[in-house]
Amino acid sequence: MAYLSLILIFCLISYSYCQQCEQSSDVARFDCYPESGSTQDKCLERHCCWRTPLKQMNSTIKYLNDVNIPYCYYPKDFPTYFVQTIQQTNFGQRIQINKSETTYMPNDITNLTVDLIYETEQRFRIRIYDSIYQRFEVPFQVPVIQKKVNITDYDVKINEQPFSILITRKSTGVILFDSSVSPLIFADQFIKFSTRLSSPLIYGLGEHRQDLLINITEQWKKLTFWSRDFPPVQNTNLYGVHPFHINLELNKNGQTNFHGQFLLNSNAMDIDLQPLPAITYTTIGGIIDLYIFTGPTVQNVIEQYWDIIGKPIMPPFWSLGFHLCRYGYNTIENLLATIERMHNADFPYDVQWTDIDAMSSYLDFTYDEKNFHDLPNLVRELQSDGKHYVNIIDPGISSIQPSGSYLPYDDGLKKNIFITKFNSTELINGKVWPGTTVFPDFTNPNATEWWTNIVSTFHDIVPFDGMWIDMNEPSNFLDGSSDGCTDNKLDNPPFVPDVLGGSLSSKTICPSAQQYLSSHYNLHSMFGYFEAIASNTAMKTIRKKRSFILSRSTFAGSGQFTAHWTGDNRATFDDMYYSIPAILSFNMFGITHVGADICGFGLETTEELCTRWMQLGAFYPFMRNHNDLGQKDQDPASFSWEAQQIMKQAVLMRYSLIPFWYTLHHEAAMASRTIVQPLFFEFSNDENTYNIDQQFLIGRAILVSPNLKSETNTVHVYIPSDVWYDFPSGVKVQSVGVFTDLDAPLSKINAHVRGGFIIPMQIPGANLMIGRDNPFILLVAQSQWSNASGNLFWDDGDSIDSIETKSYNYLEFSLNNANTLTIDALVRNYKDSPMRLDIIKVLGVNKSVTGVTINGKSYTNFLYNIPDQILLIYGLDLDMLAQANQVIQWTITN
Ligand code: NOJ
Repeated sequence: MAYLSLILIFCLISYSYCQQCEQSSDVARFDCYPESGSTQDKCLERHCCWRTPLKQMNSTIKYLNDVNIPYCYYPKDFPTYFVQTIQQTNFGQRIQINKSETTYMPNDITNLTVDLIYETEQRFRIRIYDSIYQRFEVPFQVPVIQKKVNITDYDVKINEQPFSILITRKSTGVILFDSSVSPLIFADQFIKFSTRLSSPLIYGLGEHRQDLLINITEQWKKLTFWSRDFPPVQNTNLYGVHPFHINLELNKNGQTNFHGQFLLNSNAMDIDLQPLPAITYTTIGGIIDLYIFTGPTVQNVIEQYWDIIGKPIMPPFWSLGFHLCRYGYNTIENLLATIERMHNADFPYDVQWTDIDAMSSYLDFTYDEKNFHDLPNLVRELQSDGKHYVNIIDPGISSIQPSGSYLPYDDGLKKNIFITKFNSTELINGKVWPGTTVFPDFTNPNATEWWTNIVSTFHDIVPFDGMWIDMNEPSNFLDGSSDGCTDNKLDNPPFVPDVLGGSLSSKTICPSAQQYLSSHYNLHSMFGYFEAIASNTAMKTIRKKRSFILSRSTFAGSGQFTAHWTGDNRATFDDMYYSIPAILSFNMFGITHVGADICGFGLETTEELCTRWMQLGAFYPFMRNHNDLGQKDQDPASFSWEAQQIMKQAVLMRYSLIPFWYTLHHEAAMASRTIVQPLFFEFSNDENTYNIDQQFLIGRAILVSPNLKSETNTVHVYIPSDVWYDFPSGVKVQSVGVFTDLDAPLSKINAHVRGGFIIPMQIPGANLMIGRDNPFILLVAQSQWSNASGNLFWDDGDSIDSIETKSYNYLEFSLNNANTLTIDALVRNYKDSPMRLDIIKVLGVNKSVTGVTINGKSYTNFLYNIPDQILLIYGLDLDMLAQANQVIQWTITN
């Protein structure tokens, strides 16, 4: 009551204040004082409005959310920009905007240029930048559009006084972008703009630990972007930066559309979400370079986004296998014992890793010749068994070794590729595992040559097959450097996004440090991105094969060069769950080859958790079991015989599906398709799917429903409305379009194949290289119309240029009329491994099969299972490349 009277008095004194602060609802408030310590006085000093949220005045129920409704918010007449001129250009419009009053942030830029670029029918770009001075821009080579497209799916309107942009979808009138909701602020180190969202349902905005669906219907949320080494927890900036989101549009006709937004900006940033619904970007550098992808399908949004950031890398075939790693083998004896244990358990696996404990004194590009004395030979032995080996490299290069004794440092000094202090030639020092270190500047063109040279020198000693680039946020055990940071504006910006530790230099190097392309302030979150490019080049140059890089820190577009894992998770069921939204989000971010540390990195795992996690991990694109120093062993062979059998079955299931996985990677690399995806990607008009992130799809065809709860034998799942068959049994699911409980004892992970798809499979071997020439299987899952289709990409699995040189095979499969399966070998150029089809398993055959023909000739090796409606044609030994078309037919009778 007292408060209301206060407002009344205030309104009597200042009518205009009241009018400008009028808000019919809390959700339309845009935070004018996001920093901590907001008070009425400080708020009014900013010429903003200060009022208790209506919600809190009217109700005793408080929002139980991460971020509160702001007390301090922008008045309607807050200083902002007005249009001066609009010029029609080839790409669209160039608009000059300016403002006469400044804001509370220092160094307001009063004259701005806005380019509205009509790039494609579905892609629109807004660039807002200083009209006079060149500012930092993300060093990306994005398509440059010279000519505006005339036909677009979107309509753009410019409001001139004050300046704002409104974009709607032509077909539905839905608002895709509306910046009129809050004033644009553009100061040197504080750029802020907001836009209305189409609905409160959004996806993306990584790297954060969060549910897949960010639902802001009743929630205010702040997400911070600044790459950071920290074990994943909620509401914290983490290892990577992906300011991209997908927004679901609910249309009146029940059809759902999607659009996406990507802010091409690498500076420290906050993204605030509020139930209006609206999004606010606050970045402390660069320019506004915003892409809008109008879909309309979610997969279209992905394609349009990847056209900007680049498509994912095609990984080497072997890297799709099971990887085993731990921090703390400590000795070669322990490593050997693990390998032997795995061998004796007959456990299929492809890649052995070592961590920093195998280095000598934690020095990159060394191995401990005492504790890991025979490592080079061990690696060669693994390789002769068809296995591969990956080792770890951290970016911190020791700078305290005797001069002339440590090539990475000595050569780096010579080539002048280390990051320096602000305005100085002196190197900036930090502290990582080997003690005092310096940091390479991978934006320096000479760095790649230096890196390739030292990688190569070590590769001559230990012939590793892949590189694990860790700690590349870059992580520093100190804040800033061994002698702190400067007092300049880069190290002390007027506004710091809500980064962990409260400072940009927290556990990294000083923002003011100087890199070749710009300051670390601008490039920090791209450190891992540039390191991945250099490492990818180095490995391709050295091995002359496709590279395999695993990077912890990533930026938009990193997927072109590297795989990713989700960092230092813990051995909990909760962590296992969070791995699913993470791998699904990273697929949207174009880093399709992604996984989480299976069984958990930190904390001690349990047999139950590790068994469940191995089953789930068998469906991650990247499958690695990794463990922290000091934790007890968690390699599959270290568990009971029963657990081992379950884990083995999961890995064999994965290996049997490798032709399918490999083809998906090819499609991701060539046609911008996600490899694993949420259910709503395929069932976008079914609102039951919007929030599902405990189940996911492999490609479009396999639904995975893991049991993520301890000591339970059933799992509550959603089976979307379609035809589904249990995998691998092939039995048809009876109830679809419903939530249901499925049996999920420890021995079972539920997976289902979707009708309408043909899945290429292979009889698994002890590892992928050993099994490469094994016979193929076709799993034909009939749709409700009794048809199905699928495809298969196959090459030598390792060549860099198999597409360019056309040295691959590409096959398409189709089932028509319920009884005619055609194999079309459209490209048949890779002949080095046989592609013999042994088994065809057709699901959903609801009439008796009395005969089979292969290319017109009668074939008798078949079985028809009446209750389960499965036709099995076996012992085929059919060369799938023998001719361009082959036809397998069966006779069905009632
Ligand atoms: C941090 C990484 O995230 C973890 O996977 C690794 O084991 C340790 N560094 C030691 O290298």
